[in-house]
Amino acid sequence: MPIYSEKVMEHFMNPRNVGEIPDADGVGEVGNPICGDMMTFYIKVKDNRLEDVKFKTFGCGAAIAVSSMVSEMAKGKTLDEGMMISNRDVADELGGLPKNKWHCSNLGAEALHKAIEDYRSKQAREA
Ligand code: FES
Repeated sequence: MPIYSEKVMEHFMNPRNVGEIPDADGVGEVGNPICGDMMTFYIKVKDNRLEDVKFKTFGCGAAIAVSSMVSEMAKGKTLDEGMMISNRDVADELGGLPKNKWHCSNLGAEALHKAIEDYRSKQAREA
């Protein structure tokens, strides 16, 4: 029986939105305390929406699939909607993750939220 769902494998083999946004409006970086892997999200914001979302992940296959899924789910959403994407939503969208890989899904939404918070704190400073 396969350990990963087809969707996880598909996003791992063909991750969407990999890369960096050099002039990003917000950047969020998180490290996984359990395995030491790292994930960074970059966002471009226009009219309060996530116009572009990219990521760089140094982690396992599940973490890459999670990042890819978060980036797809977040694109085009408002900042508030982006903040509401939870780790659970992401794992559900991926068709679930094996129990020993749950910690890998903790990074995705968190890194996105951090990027949004980074954008918001920059805005507050400029106001
Ligand atoms: Fe580190 Fe999956 S083992 S994120």
